[in-house]
Amino acid sequence: MKAVVYKGPFDVAVETVPDPTIRHPNDVIVKVTSSCICGSDLHMYEGRTAAQPGIVFGHENMGVIAEVGPAVKTLKQGDRVVMPFNVACGFCKNCQRGFTGFCTTVNPGFAGGAYGYVAMGPWVGGQAEYLQVPFADFNCLPLPAGTQWESDFALLADIFPTGYHGAELADVSPGESVAVFGAGPVGLMAAYSCLIRGAAEVYVIDHVQERLDKAAEIGGIPINFDTGDPVQQIKDRRSGQGVDKGIDAVGYQAANAGSSAAGGEQDESPNIVLNQIIDVVNPTGALGIPGLYVPTDPGGVDEGAKRGALSINFGRLFEKGLRLGTGQCNVKKYNADLRDLIISGRATPSFVVSHSVSLDDAPDAYKKFDQRIDGYTKVILQP
Ligand SMILES: NC(=O)c1ccc[n+]([C@@H]2O[C@H](COP(=O)([O-])OP(=O)(O)OC[C@H]3O[C@@H](n4cnc5c(N)ncnc54)[C@H](O)[C@@H]3O)[C@@H](O)[C@H]2O)c1
Ligand SMILES: [Zn+2]
Ligand SMILES: [Zn+2]
Repeated sequence: MKAVVYKGPFDVAVETVPDPTIRHPNDVIVKVTSSCICGSDLHMYEGRTAAQPGIVFGHENMGVIAEVGPAVKTLKQGDRVVMPFNVACGFCKNCQRGFTGFCTTVNPGFAGGAYGYVAMGPWVGGQAEYLQVPFADFNCLPLPAGTQWESDFALLADIFPTGYHGAELADVSPGESVAVFGAGPVGLMAAYSCLIRGAAEVYVIDHVQERLDKAAEIGGIPINFDTGDPVQQIKDRRSGQGVDKGIDAVGYQAANAGSSAAGGEQDESPNIVLNQIIDVVNPTGALGIPGLYVPTDPGGVDEGAKRGALSINFGRLFEKGLRLGTGQCNVKKYNADLRDLIISGRATPSFVVSHSVSLDDAPDAYKKFDQRIDGYTKVILQP
């Protein structure tokens, strides 16, 4: 089959790789209909992780079941399904408590597995024609048959639940004010989720104009950090007050004001957003941090950053009595409810999708999404 293969920094190719097979009785093989490119893929694409050439990318996968293992109970050939980016067993201690992003079975020696991702186990990515899904009864979310809501449902694999997770970690509640840093796909989904949960004011901070425009389109208040300190801009609009809650949907590759937005050209400060959310959230508030931070960054700005050690204003965090939550999203905790919001017409997350292209166009799509140009906000590959 054809698949998107990582060749080295800033280089992916569409190549022929072995077809996946049923390896365990509870596996299914899915014929992929949509697989999205994620901001998380860009960390690998830019050579900012330990990912080695040869890995097949793709953790945001949906499709139709092509083959069913003999022990699969709830699924059959032809069923339309979307899979959480987390690969999980369903029976380990963490899965049993709902922390499927920290499964201890699927990636021995580590808590957490994913398709097509460095350090997340042997699971081949789905930016390909077919995908092997283990523990299929647990990992497949059934969808209505047909082709309706394809781009909305594809976002259930990661960014809609992950944005929602940001709002959940920050305990965003009706009437509250929130600052969401990053208007990439995850930040936009976090802002959208805050609005669904009834937030009164949602500030969205970025410096890519098309993304800020999307934030405004859904009712967010766009703040461009190139035109002045974002914390001050928010306080100026709120009579000197900060906000109730903060979400970091940027992560360790945070850019400085005035920097290029393009991968490889960014002038970065990995701690800048963490310190800004501590600054902008009012005492007793909460911070949700779905943005990715890594224990090893070969391109880190200094020795500390190379081993994920960042300087944050912990004294200020303590003084304000702030709570914080972070980590991989446990997608399964939210995906069925968010699917039902889509079906009932209460959520249309696909407003974030800017491009749907064929697998063959993946190299060009990676390049433009990474440079954050031509309005490339969220790309779906359709094999
Ligand atoms: N926790 C999880 O389970 C999970 C899941 C998916 C993605 N992620 C992570 O979430 C983050 C966002 O993902 P994405 O797909 O939206 O990525 P993205 O790279 O498309 O978006 C990041 C956005 O942040 C903006 N940005 C950069 N510096 C900034 C700053 N100083 N202040 C405000 N905005 C800034 C960029 O311009 C960009 O628009 C990534 O770190 C990704 O790895 C985490
Ligand atoms: Zn993703
Ligand atoms: Zn498990």
